[in-house]
Amino acid sequence: ARRRRKAPPPPPPPPPPPSSSSIPFLSLLLLYTYSSSSPPPPPVAFAVPLSPTPPSPHIRMRRAGFRSYEDYLRHQLNKTLDPRLRRVWATRDWHRKVDAFARAFAALRDDDGGLLSNASRALCVGARLGQEVAALRLVGVRDAVGIDLAPAPPLVVRGDFHAQPFANDTFDFEFSNVFDHALYPDRFVAEIERTLRPGGVAVLHVAVHRRGDKYSANDLLDVQGLVGLFRRSDVIRISKVDAFGLDTEVILRKKRSSP
Ligand SMILES: *[C@@H]1O[C@H](CO)[C@@H](O)[C@H](O)[C@H]1NC(C)=O
Ligand SMILES: *[C@@H]1O[C@H](CO)[C@@H](O)[C@H](O)[C@H]1NC(C)=O
Ligand SMILES: *[C@@H]1O[C@H](CO)[C@@H](O)[C@H](O)[C@H]1NC(C)=O
Repeated sequence: ARRRRKAPPPPPPPPPPPSSSSIPFLSLLLLYTYSSSSPPPPPVAFAVPLSPTPPSPHIRMRRAGFRSYEDYLRHQLNKTLDPRLRRVWATRDWHRKVDAFARAFAALRDDDGGLLSNASRALCVGARLGQEVAALRLVGVRDAVGIDLAPAPPLVVRGDFHAQPFANDTFDFEFSNVFDHALYPDRFVAEIERTLRPGGVAVLHVAVHRRGDKYSANDLLDVQGLVGLFRRSDVIRISKVDAFGLDTEVILRKKRSSP
């Protein structure tokens, strides 16, 4: 769910995605109205208060611009609800992204390591319109859902990745490519570890050494900055990928007996 850096290829004939097939035009209108009136961010109840991530030489925070957590949420929503971007994500981007994600997920499912199966309960963290969720369902992982600050039914429900709206030990598999948007990177990771069941798998696509866009809240300077935040998981592998401007895939498994 992110913009590609290269110039996009000519648009394929776009049947609308499932998420907006019902009333696409009306929902775009509503979104436009919603976003242009600067919506209040969704209320967030933190069971555990947010505290700043301890400084890491591997992560450069870009906190300066935000006066408050609500200010940060509003800034993130500004991109998520941008009507022009949303239209591109829902049309020109849709099949290209879903196909690429589907290939990546099919490869993970066919991997011998038991990373993902059709029976996995899967979560996509920061999924925007849910292209990655659609891809999981397409390859056969039917129990897949996404969260984002703005919902995109039926694929994506409302949820803040700093306070996932799920109980402990819920998912077998979690995917995310929005780590750079985390204002509290350790909390982002702790929430993934909390909602993964023991033995569950996390797959993250990140950019290392590359600056994100103006909506990024952090820059990852070294992949260890991410891996070091996973306190209850083992690294399965780290590999180079070419995934919509992101260059590194990190796969971890939550320890089967974690404290
Ligand atoms: C949101 O976007 C609008 C229009 O692009 C801009 O005027 C506004 O300042 C933005 N607000 C934030 C909080 O970034
Ligand atoms: C998983 O689902 C896909 C798509 O429905 C199907 O082609 C495949 O055979 C299934 N795999 C298993 C092991 O059931
Ligand atoms: C859920 O997990 C967190 C730590 O990840 C723990 O602090 C909390 O007590 C757990 N909650 C329940 C209901 O087990």
